[in-house]
Amino acid sequence: MKYYESHEDAYRKVKEDNISSWDEFKKASESFENFCMKEYLVTALDKIKPISNARVLEIGCGTGPISCFLAQQGYKVDGFDVSQTAIEIAQTNAKARGLDIHFSVDDICSISKTRSDIYDIIIDGHCMHCITYDSDRHAALTNVFKLLKKGGYFIIETMSIEDSAKWSHNGRVDEQGIVWCEVKEDFPYDKVKFEDKYWICTRRIMSPSDLENELKQTGFLIEHIEIIKDEKLNMADFRAICRKPMSD
Ligand SMILES: C[S@@+](CC[C@H](N)C(=O)[O-])C[C@H]1O[C@@H](n2cnc3c(N)ncnc32)[C@H](O)[C@@H]1O
Repeated sequence: MKYYESHEDAYRKVKEDNISSWDEFKKASESFENFCMKEYLVTALDKIKPISNARVLEIGCGTGPISCFLAQQGYKVDGFDVSQTAIEIAQTNAKARGLDIHFSVDDICSISKTRSDIYDIIIDGHCMHCITYDSDRHAALTNVFKLLKKGGYFIIETMSIEDSAKWSHNGRVDEQGIVWCEVKEDFPYDKVKFEDKYWICTRRIMSPSDLENELKQTGFLIEHIEIIKDEKLNMADFRAICRKPMSD
């Protein structure tokens, strides 16, 4: 099983403890409605002024706070996540709010949809930094690009740091900005052995300029970038509005 599928274990705990969302699980928010990306999402939507019935996809939607918010704004929303448990909770959350959202289990690195040019907007609320290896990130961003309509927008908020070596973390951060956490030998997800211990990669923390280059190399036009620094955590949020060109 792929390393990022280990989110399933976290969502089983979320379900057990009756927690509403990833942000609440990480103690970054106190309610389903006040998800961390909200402020930026509102600003970004205001900037791009989408058509009222825009088709929107959220990749890595977790238990659905962002997708539910978007559906409440009137957009036609799909959301998917690698975690089956997250999707079951997202479906319950949408139903409880009377929202019609299509949630499914899928993997942005090897997406099952074969069609392209479907969505007016695709949102990443902290999924891309869970995808660590260059090959997986390339596959994920290529799929986002393919799923967008021409002229469609990719709105991303993801972790970033200028110099990942300076980030203090209880795991290890390598020179590429991949964060490794030690696991037991019987850990069921993709793990790597080094220094006689087993490790799983959990995050990829890239510099703002590397993130910008990666998006440009995928073919996106960058319309807006902002970096929100958290001095206490020595970390930043990289926020961007990217556009798929109107012509090939
Ligand atoms: C930090 S959580 C954020 C969840 C959600 N966006 C929210 O705001 O609550 C990142 C999510 O990305 C999902 N994820 C990680 N890798 C994925 C992949 N390859 N395809 C789809 N979802 C993925 C995880 O299961 C997790 O739910």
